[in-house]
Amino acid sequence: MTPFILREYLENIITSSLNEFIRSHANADKLDAGTIYPAIIKTTKAAQFGDYQVNGILPLAKTLGVVPRDLAQEFATFFAAKHALEFAKVEVAGPGFINLFLNDAWLAKLTPGIANLGTSLKTSTPRTIVVDYSAPNIAKEMHVGHLRTTIIGDSLVRVLEFFGHKVIKANHIGDWGTQFGMLMAYMEEVEKDPAAANVSIHDLDGFYRAAKARFDADEAFQTYARSLVVKLQAGDEHYLAKWRQLVDITMSQNNRTYKRLGVLLTDDDIMGESLYNPYLPGVVQDALDQGVATVDQGAVVAHLSEFKNKDGEDLGVILRKSDGGYLYATTDLAAMKFRVEHFKAQQIIYCTDSRQANHFAQIEIIARRLGYVPESTTITHAGFGMMLGTDGKPFKSRSGSVVRLGDLLDEAVERTTNLLNERNSDVTGDERQALVEALAYGAVKYADLSKNRATDYIFDWDRMISFEGNTAPYMQYSYARIRSILRRFALPADPQVQITNEHERNLVLKLQEFADVLTKVENQLMPHLICAYLYELSSTFNSFYEHVNVAKTEDAALQASRINLINYTAQVIALGLDLLGIKVVERM
Ligand code: ARG
Repeated sequence: MTPFILREYLENIITSSLNEFIRSHANADKLDAGTIYPAIIKTTKAAQFGDYQVNGILPLAKTLGVVPRDLAQEFATFFAAKHALEFAKVEVAGPGFINLFLNDAWLAKLTPGIANLGTSLKTSTPRTIVVDYSAPNIAKEMHVGHLRTTIIGDSLVRVLEFFGHKVIKANHIGDWGTQFGMLMAYMEEVEKDPAAANVSIHDLDGFYRAAKARFDADEAFQTYARSLVVKLQAGDEHYLAKWRQLVDITMSQNNRTYKRLGVLLTDDDIMGESLYNPYLPGVVQDALDQGVATVDQGAVVAHLSEFKNKDGEDLGVILRKSDGGYLYATTDLAAMKFRVEHFKAQQIIYCTDSRQANHFAQIEIIARRLGYVPESTTITHAGFGMMLGTDGKPFKSRSGSVVRLGDLLDEAVERTTNLLNERNSDVTGDERQALVEALAYGAVKYADLSKNRATDYIFDWDRMISFEGNTAPYMQYSYARIRSILRRFALPADPQVQITNEHERNLVLKLQEFADVLTKVENQLMPHLICAYLYELSSTFNSFYEHVNVAKTEDAALQASRINLINYTAQVIALGLDLLGIKVVERM
């Protein structure tokens, strides 16, 4: 078997050697019978200490009652003999650390495996995973708050699919609720007399504001709007069609934004709140029947001892209001049940801002009590922080209003266009347009994805559109640079790689880390790890290229090796960016 995840492979062979070694030690009777003692490896800070350091010998020596350095020396000799293939040198350092020096020839041989990561990293235990993300609200513009959920969710979907999981993209749009009465009543008025209304339904925010103003000002209008809610709830066909019209107009606008952002969501992924409407009475009934909720002043409430309200009492989650209305929480309960029953979800990942963490924790508790979610299904809240302006306050437009996503993307395009003009890029025509878009949307997405999602992040135009630093343009530039080099050579038939100097070696080692990084992202759902890695890879490549002249390499086999090496680098950058939902370009 080829060791595709280098760190994992090394940890495995060291652990198994270590355990084999200590079990035959003279003092082995002092060890715990059933325990496997793990070897932990750390990457070292300087080349003189080798590539990795093994920790864990010191506590073992204590257990065995021997001098740590002696134990380290004995194990080093044992291990070096067993794994001469992988390690050129195994050295004892300090009080009992072991420094490991990888064997260049072995390392070089692994490198072509990079080209097959898509196959080699496929999981042997695929799971069915629902990712709940984006979820804009109908009859409203998408605003910057939806940017994070949309692109973080998109990246998680891409990574999980890459590993071979069955991923269900659930766009839990806000397409149900009493506000539709108001909107439909106002729609009728506008349709009757468009000139007087002076607002188009296609201007979602404007339309919503006008409808709300009309609603707040006129009691007769309110009564009429409420009557439409009742009709809609009862399945009146005429009003269902009107409702659908509102959903379609909003979503076709949102689809344009999705397309610009290059996210995978389509209309097929819409599973909005309305989908669960028929199940809400059943959820409330289940909760009452099973004693998970009780009637409290006419409302149906689930009391949770795990959460306290501000008076220190058990928190009450309302499932049905005293007027019979259902809530956001009720819908999420029904959705959780549906996802387990209908999709056989083994994991549900919610990608919303961190302020909803408690909401999902509460829903999970109630859903498990109701038996909606089996123990084997995990519920994960992949929460994220807020988007802040350079002043450290929530990101707003210059006039102080919430920034519409469409406007933000327009600005990104404008700024990138100016920057490219300054740089005198000679890319023209359609390719120029594609380049501007790849850079502009890439920059916005990368700026967000490169920060640990759990923290707030500062939206800073100048930094994100820069060609320097941990930015999309820098990564895209590195890729284009390699591609322009590769266009001068034919790709070698033999995928071999040789290590003849430290620059080649550093690049090979960095490439090998990619599989390890991806597995971490799969488990921790943290896309920023990909960005941090790509930044290191690009820097390693740039320093390689400063020192190694591929064109002037005379030895044909060595030149082929170097061409292969930079080709693998380009492939890894492209794959990394693709998993972030960012496009590469061939020329800049
Ligand atoms: N529509 C909500 C919003 O815009 C987000 C919904 C998140 N998903 C969920 N299952 N509650 O804030």
